[in-house]
Amino acid sequence: MKVLVVGGGAREHAICKAVARSKDAELYCAMKNLNPGIVRLAKNHLLTNETDVSKIVDYAKKKSICLAIIGPESAEEAGIVDELKKAGIPAASPTKGAALIETDKEFMRKLMKKHKISGRLGAESFSDPAKAREFIEKNDLNVAIKPLGLTGGKGVRVGGDHFTDIEGAMGYVNEVLSNSIGGKSKVLIEEKAAGEEFTIQAFSDGKTTLPMPSVQDHKRLLPGDNGPNTGGMGSYSQADGLLPFMSKSDYEEAATIIQTIVESLADEGTPYVGTIYGQFMLTTNGPKVIEINARFGDPEAMNVLSLLETDYIEICKAMVEGTLHEKNVSFKKQATVCKYVVPEGYGVKSMEDVLIEVDEKAVADAGAEIFYASVNERGGQIYTTSSRALAVVGVADTIDEAEVICEKGLANVKSEHIFIRHDIGGKELIQKRINNINSLRGN
Ligand code: AMP
Ligand code: GLY
Repeated sequence: MKVLVVGGGAREHAICKAVARSKDAELYCAMKNLNPGIVRLAKNHLLTNETDVSKIVDYAKKKSICLAIIGPESAEEAGIVDELKKAGIPAASPTKGAALIETDKEFMRKLMKKHKISGRLGAESFSDPAKAREFIEKNDLNVAIKPLGLTGGKGVRVGGDHFTDIEGAMGYVNEVLSNSIGGKSKVLIEEKAAGEEFTIQAFSDGKTTLPMPSVQDHKRLLPGDNGPNTGGMGSYSQADGLLPFMSKSDYEEAATIIQTIVESLADEGTPYVGTIYGQFMLTTNGPKVIEINARFGDPEAMNVLSLLETDYIEICKAMVEGTLHEKNVSFKKQATVCKYVVPEGYGVKSMEDVLIEVDEKAVADAGAEIFYASVNERGGQIYTTSSRALAVVGVADTIDEAEVICEKGLANVKSEHIFIRHDIGGKELIQKRINNINSLRGN
């Protein structure tokens, strides 16, 4: 079966590895950088911008692709799934209409309100700065200010973290409104939730959802969760599919929210097919929805796909055919730790075209696995772009052991100009998270 994966990041490298493990899949890829991991796995690739829908659809037709999997939300927003469908090529990813759950935060909040989905935070959108100011003052600055559209995970400003007075908050509100950050001269302001964040991803065929192990991402650039928000610096998961601060009922509550969102989208006439991603804050009142994404998370894809035992293409076929209720999806009962290697200055002003030496054999000998991200291969050497360069993943029975394996792998990735958040998956940071939840619960 000829399968096309769109996207050239580490998430897509993980997707491509899962496709390549499938018995009868032949892999094709469309990406904007020459990801060496993907190039090696693919029978053929097209080098193009991931939003160049007509070029990618033409390529898919020419190569007689039978199934497409879309990595990045930007391609979904550009309508790639709709156009592939018109050409008779099914995709295990959402249409432009269903992807609105990520590409339009106002749409998502309205959907939750209309269908009375639990896990809601108080939220309103504004185009009038005076009304926005009233809302922020009423909430005592305890708000998150969000552009409505896509900003690569870097558009959110949270009270107490990114601003500490009304001038700071209004400065950002006015910036979003006057520059139409995220595509519209409108801003979403949401009640701030206190707790610990976690991710649950699920496969969806439009009716049934099958949730995957939960993962905790680390958005902040610097150790101890300091510095600006990034696309995600690394992530971990625990052998039982839960997290050290999370109970089974918290997990089930969040998974039910995802199922309800999928049911609501079906009611609205835009059934959601593909992987759906929920980012939650575990609060003293249970999980609250921070964000819903229309794709695998990056880095979270590396955690769950490293554990997936069921044939991924079989799952994709069931999503497309609407037969997920007949499927059993199983994951290894192991823990994972994933850490990203980024170019120096990432998150502020990245150095570009930095040479990285990767001893792939030594990484494999350490028991770790590499997922290449936004790098290019030239003359047998790996060079960074301005984005995250590559991720290393360790898998073991416990988070501690997986972290050690991940670090042993990372020791074989060398450059004068790279940065890694070494604290991810470490005992100290995990204990801090457990303490945070305990203190919020008054324990
Ligand atoms: P997002 O791009 O929506 O994932 O937001 C980036 C980060 O901002 C999240 O990972 C959270 O840490 C934080 N954040 C977003 N919304 C809220 C909220 N309502 N309350 C507290 N923190 C939030
Ligand atoms: N890890 C966050 C995201 O993929 O949006």
